[in-house]
Amino acid sequence: MTNSNEPVRFPDSFIWGAATASYQIEGAAREAGRGPSIWDTFSRTPGKVHAGHTGDVACDHYHRYRDDVALMAELGLHTYRFSIAWPRVQPDGTGPVNPYGLDFYDRLVDELRGRGIEPIITLYHWDLPQTLEDRGGWTNRETAEAFAEYARAVYARLGDRVQTWTTLNEPWCSAYLGYGAGVHAPGRTDPAATFQTVHHLLLGHGLANQALRAAGASTVGITVNPTSAFPADPASEADAKAVELVEDLQNRIFLDPILRGGYPQRILDHVSRFTSLDHIRDGDEKIIGEPIDLLGINYYSPTYLAARDGAPGGGGAFPGTEGIEFIAPEPPLTDMGWQIQPSGLTALLSKLGRDYPGVPMIITENGAAFPDQLHPAGDRVDDSDRVAYLDGHLRAAHAAIAAGVDLRGYLVWSLLDNFEWSYGYDKRFGIVYVDYLTQRRVPKASARWYQEVIRRNGIG
Ligand code: FCB
Repeated sequence: MTNSNEPVRFPDSFIWGAATASYQIEGAAREAGRGPSIWDTFSRTPGKVHAGHTGDVACDHYHRYRDDVALMAELGLHTYRFSIAWPRVQPDGTGPVNPYGLDFYDRLVDELRGRGIEPIITLYHWDLPQTLEDRGGWTNRETAEAFAEYARAVYARLGDRVQTWTTLNEPWCSAYLGYGAGVHAPGRTDPAATFQTVHHLLLGHGLANQALRAAGASTVGITVNPTSAFPADPASEADAKAVELVEDLQNRIFLDPILRGGYPQRILDHVSRFTSLDHIRDGDEKIIGEPIDLLGINYYSPTYLAARDGAPGGGGAFPGTEGIEFIAPEPPLTDMGWQIQPSGLTALLSKLGRDYPGVPMIITENGAAFPDQLHPAGDRVDDSDRVAYLDGHLRAAHAAIAAGVDLRGYLVWSLLDNFEWSYGYDKRFGIVYVDYLTQRRVPKASARWYQEVIRRNGIG
């Protein structure tokens, strides 16, 4: 299915869009009262981000949003997923709301709707106010409570015009890469902090979900990045066990509390090797398990695992996985070194549809970095490798729908080349090229291809 040249058509109601995140595109890091976030601090810490890049200017979207929205309209996007920078709204993370920070999102929402593009808001795409981190960040339960306050403030301003709200983006990355492996802000390397963070992110999600719903929000969800993991040897029971543990740590630790009412005992046992469970209080799982309307799935590449004595495991990103080998990705690879395997997406969606029935899914991110070159004429980028990647993954998504998965839409990552976290501006994920010297936008061949996919509601 996934590699054929057969034409495919998506359901009539299928939603097409693109995604970005505040710190990766906005710039204007000190404008209109924005406070510092953990990514401002992290990117200024020597050695943490490629070539010392920061999000200070990024794509300057804060000032160029009108042109960017015009481009989205030209491409025919139905929806645009963006995140709100918490430190623009509450510079210190709690307390008085900065109306000037919200003004920007007010203008952006109006601009989008004026062009017939439906906004999808992500409330937290990793830019925690630094003041909250100074008080323990997500290891502190109060951060979850502050998050719900912040959600309430954003909804009060934009709720009359925005239907779809998602709480967190990829809490696995926030917790394990931020507090475990230390490769994302705030750069901590403490497994106890990692698991406390997991819980407080989930609690923040639950409290924000309650707050949004009480305020009248009709569609509330969350975006996760579940692993699509496979045993190196399909016949090996030990490899299957390795897959189960890694899925526990990346998928079930989030999705079971959200969609099945609580943590499985096996996961609590694993967590208690690293921290007491005192941070999980009576009643928390009930809050976390309140119904959601939409599950956002981000997928980029598969993971292959083998049980092997002496293997170091996944380090801080997967505490307690010693004895598991994370197999090096096999070509074809993207510029991130990520294995290209569209069938991993079909498998993941099908599995999630089986394990967590009843909640509609949307692909909130999928895409690829390639070393794009602006054509010497300056007017185009021939990114046929990205077109092939997207083509394969859309066919894979279509195969999941054909197999009965309730998948409502697809959002490409990303609209624009942008600040790719610890890789800085070195990795280009956009369907639109950004010349960082001039801030000129040049739609790549993939943007034109995607425009045609949207127009036809399918491929071919
Ligand atoms: C995801 C992030 C997104 C972007 C892509 C490449 O993990 O949510 O911001 O960095 O990866």
